[in-house]
Amino acid sequence: MSNLADLQLTKSGELRHFLTPEGLDRLMLERILDTADSFVVVGNQEVKKVPLLRGRTVVNLFFENSTRTRSTFELAAKRLSADVLTLDIKTSATSKGESLLDTLQNLRAMHSDMFVVRHGDSGAAHFIASQVTPDVAIINAGDGRHAHPTQAMLDMLTIRRNKGYFESLSVAIVGDILHSRVARDQIHALKTLGCSDIRLVGPNTLMPQAIDSMGVTTHNNMDSGIDGVDVVIMLRLQTERMDSAFLPSAGEYFRLYGLTTERLAQAKPDAIVMHPGPINRGIEIESAVADGPQSMILNQVGYGIALRMAVMSMAMSGQMQQRQAQANTPSSLTGKLRP
Ligand code: NCD
Repeated sequence: MSNLADLQLTKSGELRHFLTPEGLDRLMLERILDTADSFVVVGNQEVKKVPLLRGRTVVNLFFENSTRTRSTFELAAKRLSADVLTLDIKTSATSKGESLLDTLQNLRAMHSDMFVVRHGDSGAAHFIASQVTPDVAIINAGDGRHAHPTQAMLDMLTIRRNKGYFESLSVAIVGDILHSRVARDQIHALKTLGCSDIRLVGPNTLMPQAIDSMGVTTHNNMDSGIDGVDVVIMLRLQTERMDSAFLPSAGEYFRLYGLTTERLAQAKPDAIVMHPGPINRGIEIESAVADGPQSMILNQVGYGIALRMAVMSMAMSGQMQQRQAQANTPSSLTGKLRP
């Protein structure tokens, strides 16, 4: 098992943290998607609530701004009947100099079972997961430019519900790949699920070095990059993560890489258009496409609730199994003292 799998799975192979799809096998990713499918059904019922996390406490720790991710995590936890606390970090003690671990220890003292963490630093969620006691689950809601696993998996759910399979699909990911935590996890997930034609489209300045080693092709020309693809995933220009000028101007960017109706005609006629949001109309995507019949952008938000319910319920049940296994292990074997 890779280190990333070790960190994310229990000894019996159940999910206990969800930090990135990297290191998880196809069976696990498919289980996440299957579980999410069942929550899509629940979401279409009149009563949308299930008791799977009743009596459990979920704390949303958002150190970075978010609208969709934060609200859909909150809704997902509520629909699972958990008690939910969403911490406004700007008013918390962190801004008074308390360290991330001190904050976590204080929250842990409140007997929380799960933390959903968004942080501006790459690796923050992995660090927290490696520090917390085994009975706490960590879900990564986006760290720096590193990973955003629930976004990538809700994108996989959107693709599977529209196309039904991954094997022979051509998928183009267009735009600011360099600063995108979403693109990295999408590539890992697509590859693990069997997709072999993954094209990254954008200017060289927004393409990470040596990205070809991830088994993708790179394209500077938008028209040939999206030629004949089944899925076009547009990404936002993440200007907040740009420390210098990566582009001549927004207008020039739109001219070269903006998704217009005319350009979309290069893709297959039944191609779907996706975007993690927030979208910038007239910069990476034209309104006629964003609001058009091929756009799945709002469907993605809805699937995000089901996908997050799936991951939270799976991680919580992995934690419970782990707790039971520990309770059944004589303390002489674990070397730990029991109270
Ligand atoms: C993404 C993010 O925050 O990384 N959006 C999201 O989670 N809905 C992508 C982005 O901000 O452009």
